[in-house]
Amino acid sequence: MDEHVEKFIAEAEKGLADDTFVKLILSNYKGTDRSLQKISVRIIETKKGKHLMFQSRFDTRDTVKNFSIAEAANELRRRLSSGFRNAHLFTTGGDFQLDIGKRNSRLTTGKPTTKARPATTHDRAKRSFVDPNAFYLKALGIATDKGEIKPSQRDKWRQINKFIEILAGLIEQSELKDKKALKIVDMGSGKGYLTFAAFDYLQKPAREQGRNMNVESEQQPVRPRIQMTGVEQRPELIALCNDIAKAGNFDGLKFVHGTIADFDPGEIDILIALHACDTATDDALYKGIVANASIIIAAPCCHKEIRKQIKPPEMLAGILKHGIMLERTAETITDGLRSLLLEREGYKTKLFEFIATEHTPKNNMLVATLQTRHSNVDKIDMQIAEVKNIFGIARQYLEELLKS
Ligand SMILES: C[S@@+](CC[C@H](N)C(=O)[O-])C[C@H]1O[C@@H](n2cnc3c(N)ncnc32)[C@H](O)[C@@H]1O
Repeated sequence: MDEHVEKFIAEAEKGLADDTFVKLILSNYKGTDRSLQKISVRIIETKKGKHLMFQSRFDTRDTVKNFSIAEAANELRRRLSSGFRNAHLFTTGGDFQLDIGKRNSRLTTGKPTTKARPATTHDRAKRSFVDPNAFYLKALGIATDKGEIKPSQRDKWRQINKFIEILAGLIEQSELKDKKALKIVDMGSGKGYLTFAAFDYLQKPAREQGRNMNVESEQQPVRPRIQMTGVEQRPELIALCNDIAKAGNFDGLKFVHGTIADFDPGEIDILIALHACDTATDDALYKGIVANASIIIAAPCCHKEIRKQIKPPEMLAGILKHGIMLERTAETITDGLRSLLLEREGYKTKLFEFIATEHTPKNNMLVATLQTRHSNVDKIDMQIAEVKNIFGIARQYLEELLKS
């Protein structure tokens, strides 16, 4: 291999050895895979120690793979001979730019673009719910390499934090708080922001989660065994999320391709369904009920099923002629009926604002916790029938599923 390429690799190895490595980018790809654009290489801290994460950007998807520091040089050598024409190494000591020509290559060095080493999870501030330096946030494009939340991702970041705070509070108040193993399903996991954040938070020993401090203070921290599955119908998101889970050694976290309705979760402790569209939320709630989940958390979105059916009573006709009013009424009736149906199945429910509407229009959160006492089925049935009757609603999807 060309001496400049070898020198470039040696500089990367040196940066890794003396902790001055910031990042490395391979670009200007002219190889056989026309959809490959670039590869970014960063350091990540996993349970198994420091690794290098290679994130490949294709036209329509990203893939992620990690390598031990010992494997880094060989992997870099392999990628550098695969058709990239440029490679840029950033270290706190200096920048190195490699231009690879057909016959020769050229290596130029310059002053460092940054003198700050990127933070990794290792440096994280203890006891926060979500660590902005977590590698998955960088891989998903929410945080920069320095562990700063990108301005365009602040709303998402707020949502992730709020969600983990709510989840942590629910577990703390339930019998699940003392369980050593939890089975969780996230229905409609999308890009996996919440799935990764929940898994990362829950797999930490209670001490690092900021709870049960006195129980563990004299002992080795206990790491709960978390088995978590994200279910998603878009295959490209499944591939990306599984890559990231593997890169981060998130053993116990997997993503499966399929629809919520077709997925059989078995017995589970927690069911999550955030922003699953329209009746997909009903499918998810139904699965949670059948799976006997102790906690069900849903943030429903688009309430089309009921909106189409509403025939306003005469008294409200003048009000519900406005689209926005009809929209809000559909939301209220849908989530209200879902809440009643969950109560009928033995859950205690809460409906509240997830995060303020200025950050997202989809902001109802429906939380259900399984109770031991029986519910007053007749009374709830009457309430459901009355609401449906007043608004001329023939069917509600969750109710149909529960009857089937
Ligand atoms: C708006 S995204 C929300 C993702 C994630 N839960 C969050 O809140 O960040 C909704 C995701 O649910 C998926 N989805 C919707 N209906 C689904 C179904 N019936 N089965 C599986 N996935 C579904 C969509 O493909 C999409 O990725």
